[in-house]
Amino acid sequence: MLRILLFILINQCLSQTGFPKQFQAILNISGSRSWDSPFPGVKQLLYDYKNLRVRFDIQGSQAQQNETWMLQYKPKGAEADSPASQGYTMFNFNPDFPYFTKNDCWYRTNSMIDIGPFPVSWLHGVENYIQIYPWYPLPPNLINKGEEWIPELQLNATRYDSPEICDLIHSRIGKVPCFSYFETKDRPVKTIQARPVPPESFDNDEYLTTVYLSFTNGIPSQAEHLFDLPAQWPGYCGNANAGFTIDPLREFVITPNSQDYFTLKLQTPLVRSLGDRVKIEFKVQPSGCFNGTRCTNFNTIVFSGEN
Ligand SMILES: *[C@@H]1O[C@H](CO)[C@@H](O)[C@H](O)[C@H]1NC(C)=O
Ligand SMILES: *[C@@H]1O[C@H](CO)[C@@H](O)[C@H](O)[C@H]1NC(C)=O
Ligand SMILES: *[C@@H]1O[C@H](CO)[C@@H](O)[C@H](O)[C@H]1NC(C)=O
Ligand SMILES: *[C@@H]1O[C@H](CO)[C@@H](O)[C@H](O)[C@H]1NC(C)=O
Repeated sequence: MLRILLFILINQCLSQTGFPKQFQAILNISGSRSWDSPFPGVKQLLYDYKNLRVRFDIQGSQAQQNETWMLQYKPKGAEADSPASQGYTMFNFNPDFPYFTKNDCWYRTNSMIDIGPFPVSWLHGVENYIQIYPWYPLPPNLINKGEEWIPELQLNATRYDSPEICDLIHSRIGKVPCFSYFETKDRPVKTIQARPVPPESFDNDEYLTTVYLSFTNGIPSQAEHLFDLPAQWPGYCGNANAGFTIDPLREFVITPNSQDYFTLKLQTPLVRSLGDRVKIEFKVQPSGCFNGTRCTNFNTIVFSGEN
């Protein structure tokens, strides 16, 4: 009995603390090669599992633009009757990059395909809605490997490895633990995720290192304002480009026979403060071969409460 108790006690001393439910951190994510990581570089993360909100600031890949990704459940500013107020995930993508939307922000209430900088595991929720899950839930069977020097931070940290070994043949990294986690007694310090691709694949192995350059337990009061949204947030936003479906989804060659048609279906409810209307205008985008501007005429479509 005593031996079992001692074993449990020792085991607890040797096991990791892991990520807290609230923290503010500056991350540096890097892949084994520069293009391996979808969101490389230094970025700020505010993670608040207690209040179901997360903010992630990144530098966009296409124009080095600033982007803010934010997840919130039932945000205070949500317009009454809007999907957001009924408990949906709010997703804010706020760039100085008006490619996806012309407004300051957009929100999506449908299931999301793109996941931005959030962990892939967050996608595996009910019906694929993005959900806030614990940040890196550490597997229970990590093995304590003792102290290791962390050159990026110039300090010693305790290393924990997964018992599973991944053989990264493509990238010639070889056999490494599939997951490694480093922490000091105050805070998480680093993670390494490895995932091999099948030998016949043309993809590269995944070998992602995340260093937590700074780490604050809890959400400091000075950081609280980073979760603030415009008071009437949904009112300032338009439905995003994926708020509708096109069927069939293919390219058309315009013919005089009028055999080409498609169905456009709005998926998100109309936004009251935007007048309960969505207006869709079409634009011809001539390709190198076809310039259909002389034989086509596009009508504007208006979705209203009835239509
Ligand atoms: C972030 O990581 C990259 C790749 O390891 C490194 O070159 C760079 O100096 C790091 N930046 C900071 C601020 O630590
Ligand atoms: C992005 O943010 C940084 C820091 O706030 C700022 O210095 C930079 O000008 C911003 N970039 C753009 C494209 O606005
Ligand atoms: C880091 O850990 C190693 C191995 O335990 C030890 O030799 C070294 O003195 C430590 N360095 C610091 C700065 O604590
Ligand atoms: C398409 O071609 C016509 C002449 O064939 C030209 O007048 C028009 O400017 C062209 N439109 C575009 C968008 O290239």
